[in-house]
Amino acid sequence: MQIIRSVPEMQALAEALRAQGQLIGLVPTMGALHDGHLTLIRAAAERADAVVVTIFVNPAQFAPSEDFNKYPRELENDVAKCEAAGADYVFAPPNEEIYPKGYSTYITEEHVAKPLEGVSRPSHFRGVTTVVAKLFNICRPDLAVFGQKDAQQVAVIRKMVADLNFTVDIVVAPTLREPDGLAMSSRNRYLSATQRVEALAIHRALYKARDMVAAGEIRSDRLVAEATHILSQQRRIRVIYVSLVNRSTMEPAREVIPGETVMAIAAWMDEVRLIDNIVL
Ligand code: PAJ
Repeated sequence: MQIIRSVPEMQALAEALRAQGQLIGLVPTMGALHDGHLTLIRAAAERADAVVVTIFVNPAQFAPSEDFNKYPRELENDVAKCEAAGADYVFAPPNEEIYPKGYSTYITEEHVAKPLEGVSRPSHFRGVTTVVAKLFNICRPDLAVFGQKDAQQVAVIRKMVADLNFTVDIVVAPTLREPDGLAMSSRNRYLSATQRVEALAIHRALYKARDMVAAGEIRSDRLVAEATHILSQQRRIRVIYVSLVNRSTMEPAREVIPGETVMAIAAWMDEVRLIDNIVL
């Protein structure tokens, strides 16, 4: 496996792979890889001839108050995991390769990115769409794999791809969870043992909604009320939102349409911001 640090080198490699007729699969990440990321790499390896994993902690998607500086960075470890999961290349550019001095062009999706995460993190998706568009241009993938864990990110990227005529297939991999149900996340390492136990209420709330739907409940207000009640029983959890939305548009759903409606939750577990969702 090869590690690439510069944009021109990555572009030349992508060009060469395409000239050989190889299908390029891209897995964008910010590193600190866990098993959830590795399932994305495996999904790419099943579908593509050459798998490029990008590891870049993207400053543009963090607000000044957020955890950019303390976000875990462990490249050596990550590279070994990428190789074991079937990656062929790791593209890990330094910041100035992606945002050289004087950088001034940004991409904003203006509809799907507005609710939910967009309310409390108004510049977050502008950073995500900008870096993902740049990674598409640099790595020229035929397909790119993203995780359902970030349901709104998937919807925003799909919309950007459609609106800007990118010719990349977006593949979505299901959320990988710890055995106790907690969605895997690079930020879980910020949680103490007690916080981690309380955080399981998020998973319980989502699965309660799923069970209620299985039992015939389709009204959004009732599902949200029950999920909110479960979360409210935890002293350290502060709910940011519990919403039922359409999985493509992120618009509010009054009733569940099976396979199309998502329950999305964001909550503070003390000072750690967690998100999770379930397709109902
Ligand atoms: P990051 O948080 O590192 O996540 C990289 C990819 O892994 C995303 O597509 C995310 O949805 C997926 N992922 C995270 N946890 C997962 C889990 N438990 N199960 C399945 N997939 C999971 O998302 C980002 O980075 C960035 O916004 C990025 C797209 C790289 C742009 O900077």
